[in-house]
Amino acid sequence: MDVVILGASGYGGGELLRLLASHPRLRSVSCISRQHVGKSIGAVHPNLRGIVTGEFVAAPDWAALAQSDCPVLFAAMPHGEFARQLLQLEQQWLEHGLERKLTVIDLSGDFRLADAPSFSRSYGGEHPCPERLADFVYGLSEWRRVELAGARRIANPGCFATAIQLGLLPLADLGAQAPAWVAVSAITGSSGSGASPSETTHHPTRANDFRAYKMLAHQHEGEIRRTLAEQGTALDFAFVPHSAPLVRGIFATLTFQAPDLSGAELRAAFEQRYQDRRFIRLLEGTPRIAAVAGSNFADIAVSVSGGNACVLVAIDNLVKGMAGQAIQNLNLAHCWHEDAGLLQVPAYPA
Ligand SMILES: NC(=O)c1ccc[n+]([C@@H]2O[C@H](COP(=O)([O-])OP(=O)(O)OC[C@H]3O[C@@H](n4cnc5c(N)ncnc54)[C@H](OP(=O)(O)O)[C@@H]3O)[C@@H](O)[C@H]2O)c1
Repeated sequence: MDVVILGASGYGGGELLRLLASHPRLRSVSCISRQHVGKSIGAVHPNLRGIVTGEFVAAPDWAALAQSDCPVLFAAMPHGEFARQLLQLEQQWLEHGLERKLTVIDLSGDFRLADAPSFSRSYGGEHPCPERLADFVYGLSEWRRVELAGARRIANPGCFATAIQLGLLPLADLGAQAPAWVAVSAITGSSGSGASPSETTHHPTRANDFRAYKMLAHQHEGEIRRTLAEQGTALDFAFVPHSAPLVRGIFATLTFQAPDLSGAELRAAFEQRYQDRRFIRLLEGTPRIAAVAGSNFADIAVSVSGGNACVLVAIDNLVKGMAGQAIQNLNLAHCWHEDAGLLQVPAYPA
């Protein structure tokens, strides 16, 4: 494959490059940036020095990409930007015969929701390109395999949404014992906010602090509710996000009342759902962010006691919550090995 990354200088772009470096099908990668044109990739992503050569360029060379048997575009830009550019980009793809064969994976929230009003509720403002919302498959890899096979337009899920859905969706399999309502609390590290510094990512204000934010109003709620509705479950939840003094990682805690449920039954529901899922590791005790950092694994544990139950999920927000899942989706879309380019062993301690 020949890859173009829009927003390649950001954290998502850097992680795509890190993971793609060991993807057996990668032939070339073109890194698009506005601020770093002419700089080497290693000057911006120092971990990639000596591994990813070349420099940032201002715009994709669509004519060159059109020569590829397998052209791929990852969009890793701030919310709204890819949707704003899409119709113009499509015009260029059409001119170069790329329209049908280009695989497009957007890492932002632009195409995760079903319709323009849902987008406005989650992100505020008008959707810049509502006529294309229906073209995109929502790429929660473990749950959308059928839809992903052959897909050429994929909306990659949000990082919180990935962790929460992996823990929430199997609960619908509990039948009469499924909870009506689940309390969700999840923490994220500072890299969740991207590479541009802000008050909430600035080290002195964050390193020794712990706080909630966007209580009951986080933008990922919309995509989670969409999946729940499409799975045909009436399960409801309330979500409070927290900002933790970490760089990478999401840890989601889901709790609910379970008067008639045993630990073995809850675990069996997860085992059954995820039995052949390469990147889900079910464990005893507690998952740990340090055990998944840098990898595409989602570690999940469940427990039941005194009529209450909890599900715990740990992922790396930049990998399973972003670039890793995007590559997993690319692999599923092309019916390649699901784990191609994704077999990095987590570094421990992180
Ligand atoms: N960070 C996470 O954990 C995470 C997880 C899941 C999804 N996401 C989503 O993935 C997307 C990328 O996130 P990120 O963390 O990689 O962000 P980031 O570190 O801020 O990188 C985004 C890159 O996009 C480019 N960019 C910024 N504004 C642009 C504009 N108006 N037009 C074109 N390019 C622009 C910038 O590069 P230049 O200035 O060099 O052009 C920037 O480096 C976001 O939509 C984010 O919400 C993030």
